[in-house]
Amino acid sequence: MISLKMWAGRFEKELDSTINDFNSSISFDWVMYKEDIAGSMAHAGMLGAQGIIPMADVEEILTGLEGILADLESGRLQIDPTAEDIHMFIEQTLTARIGDAGKRLHTARSRNDQVALDTRLYLRGKTNQIITAVRGLAAVLVQLAQQNLHTVLPGYTHLQVAQPVTFAHHLMAYAQMLRRDIGRLQDCKARMNYSPLGAGALAGTTYPINRQRTAQELEFTAPCPNSMDAVSDRDFCVELAAALALVMTHLSRLSEEVVLWCSSEFKFVELDDAFATGSSIMPQKKNPDITELVRGKTGRVNGNLVTLLTMLKGLPLAYNKDMQEDKQAIFDSVETTLACLAAVTPMLQTMRVNAKNMRAAAAKGFINATDCADYLTKKGLPFRDAYKITGSLVVHCIKAGLTLETLPLQEYKAASDLFEEDVYTAIDLATCVAQRNSEGGPAPEAVQAQIEEYKKAMEM
Ligand code: ARG
Repeated sequence: MISLKMWAGRFEKELDSTINDFNSSISFDWVMYKEDIAGSMAHAGMLGAQGIIPMADVEEILTGLEGILADLESGRLQIDPTAEDIHMFIEQTLTARIGDAGKRLHTARSRNDQVALDTRLYLRGKTNQIITAVRGLAAVLVQLAQQNLHTVLPGYTHLQVAQPVTFAHHLMAYAQMLRRDIGRLQDCKARMNYSPLGAGALAGTTYPINRQRTAQELEFTAPCPNSMDAVSDRDFCVELAAALALVMTHLSRLSEEVVLWCSSEFKFVELDDAFATGSSIMPQKKNPDITELVRGKTGRVNGNLVTLLTMLKGLPLAYNKDMQEDKQAIFDSVETTLACLAAVTPMLQTMRVNAKNMRAAAAKGFINATDCADYLTKKGLPFRDAYKITGSLVVHCIKAGLTLETLPLQEYKAASDLFEEDVYTAIDLATCVAQRNSEGGPAPEAVQAQIEEYKKAMEM
């Protein structure tokens, strides 16, 4: 344990141990150790190149930091839970290992630019991971869609049977949402990717540093143009939290549908045993727990967004310790989203689709009533009149226990003499779907075109 605080010179007493725990962030910011080391290496290299510290010290610092990294990875070095944060822990360990050269590392730097740097680097990496995971899920949706171009199911509005669609069409709707999610994550990453290193505590530094050099070495687009902004905004956390809240909202809506589809009333899909759970008391149960957890966890991810916005809204420039609270919120959003994507993707991939039940559900509820009205319209009747005639036929069918498919032709003709034998083809579910071939519609060829465009745009 390293007992003497870094700022011990100014203080005559050790920090109260309860307050030390209260103040410490190491229990959650230790995850950024790699980024902290990478940032320190870039900083040290720059200090040496600019002649701010001797090259010999730089060599020692770099070797020392490499050793710390290797030892943390191998478990030879344990994170000290009483350290104030990961930045202090690494610097103190370095100094304990290499002596004076270690004490030179923090020249022309503050923990304020250091933490802003580490957080950006860390979240940049995580954003890449999330983009890959969202792409993986999108690929599964596209694959499932390709297999279900002709699988007819009811399309709903108000959760009431509306018009027939295909399962492919339904799944591609989610694939399109994920495509925009990826776009948002990429945009967010691009705005995040500016280097705060060299902003110092808030007001830059009097040393002849080279911010371009460190920014380049750490693969940033450029240094943040304003040192106060660099250390005091966390808009990149908010943006990422918002993008993740939307990813989760999309996953949550899809999850809710899977919950419905698994129910005995729908039975549209069946989850693979490896991705469902049983009940401790009811032997017949096969529960879609994964989807319910995704739906539930979406609440947490939405909450994290509000946490971050609220944490920031009253802060005067520049750094305030409130900002230490950014990490748990955004890290939780990141890990929760990754975990949900990792659960949902194989669950969908292994789910069995019950095309017969989907089709049977679509045959109920007068789903082809619009098509019946369209039939009359195409024969010259104004749509409003066709709508009224079809409405009266539906009422008649309900009273007589018939469907539009089983209603005899003479009863059609009694309502309008425009009806001919071919009305039965026009209201056949397959026809209803096939004719909805407008761009973006559910007809198999329209969905196939959508899939082609999607795969091309997404480089799948
Ligand atoms: N652990 C701190 C954080 O996460 C690091 C920055 C501390 N800066 C300071 N001036 N106390 O924000």
